[in-house]
Amino acid sequence: MKAIVQDKYGSTDVLELKEIDKPLVEDDEVLVRVHAASVHPDVWHAMRGMPYVLRIMGSGLFKPKNPVPGTDMAGHVESVGNKVEQFQPGDEVFGETVTGNQWHNAGAFAEYVSVAEEALALKPANLTFEQAAAVPTSALIARENLRDRIQPGQKVLINGAGGGLGTFAVQLAKSYGADVTGVDSAGKLDMVRSIGADHVIDYTQEDFTQSGERYDLILDIPGNHSISELRRALTPEGTYVLIGHDRFGASGGRLLGSGIPRFLKLLVLSPFVSQDLGLRFPVGTKEHLVVLKELLEAGKVTPVIDRTYPLSEVAAAIRYLEAGQASGKIVITV
Ligand SMILES: NC(=O)c1ccc[n+]([C@@H]2O[C@H](COP(=O)([O-])OP(=O)(O)OC[C@H]3O[C@@H](n4cnc5c(N)ncnc54)[C@H](OP(=O)(O)O)[C@@H]3O)[C@@H](O)[C@H]2O)c1
Repeated sequence: MKAIVQDKYGSTDVLELKEIDKPLVEDDEVLVRVHAASVHPDVWHAMRGMPYVLRIMGSGLFKPKNPVPGTDMAGHVESVGNKVEQFQPGDEVFGETVTGNQWHNAGAFAEYVSVAEEALALKPANLTFEQAAAVPTSALIARENLRDRIQPGQKVLINGAGGGLGTFAVQLAKSYGADVTGVDSAGKLDMVRSIGADHVIDYTQEDFTQSGERYDLILDIPGNHSISELRRALTPEGTYVLIGHDRFGASGGRLLGSGIPRFLKLLVLSPFVSQDLGLRFPVGTKEHLVVLKELLEAGKVTPVIDRTYPLSEVAAAIRYLEAGQASGKIVITV
């Protein structure tokens, strides 16, 4: 089969299109013929082997254990292992090719990938493979962090609303009945409004933490303000949720990046403040995928796709992700 392969960590120069063997299928796995995959920041981290901590978290110490990158895909079932009960050959599916932490390669940028049964769901009938492949990681993280936290009418701010994760977060918050403010750069704000945001803020012109407005929930994707500034922009019982690293962890060290130290600060601070600092145990992929499928089929959430690249141009797709200019998701067709 054709696959993108990397034999060492590094920039997009390490990625090559090669012919390799099809993956083996364990008893509890499904072999999927991939039709589309998608890119997100953790794919970049796993490709680079940065921050270094990911190498001891299972990615591989000196080179990637799995040479084929990618974690999100949609396709059809080619064959199933002996213990698989929910899928059969021919089913159209979408999901993550990874279980556990996201910081490793998981084989989605290839013609075939074997996937744990619990990380897949049937593809929403109204979505193309490209749209379905755009969903898994970004929408899962958005839902994980917003579910059960929003009452209708509450004021929710999504910082980084125009990116891969933010475009799902805006739509999910609207589906829970929130009054949504989306923050991003000027060129993305029309799109952010078009997917349901009630208010938009251009972060290059206005700092939402200085406006005096208070929010019931802030979902913070770039993580570019201090925790005290963010707490001032929250109601006294409000919830702050940090998603990631600013600019691929650029402001942090090579060992941990910028996200992990911020999460640790929140963990230490959490027992001493009235606000909820958003730390919670995740639920399984399957539960999210099933709920997301319903929302997607009901038209309450629609993936926003900026660009599509063929498998041979995964390197260009990741460079476009690195540039930080994508409105919504970047998709690979296989
Ligand atoms: N998406 C995923 O599946 C996923 C998975 C794991 C972790 N994460 C974490 O989530 C973070 C971003 O993910 P993403 O996929 O949404 O990335 P993305 O597609 O690059 O989106 C980030 C958005 O934030 C905007 N932004 C940048 N600086 C900002 C600022 N100062 N204020 C407000 N908005 C700002 C960017 O707009 P401009 O570029 O126009 O400034 C962009 O629209 C990363 O830290 C990543 O580690 C995401």
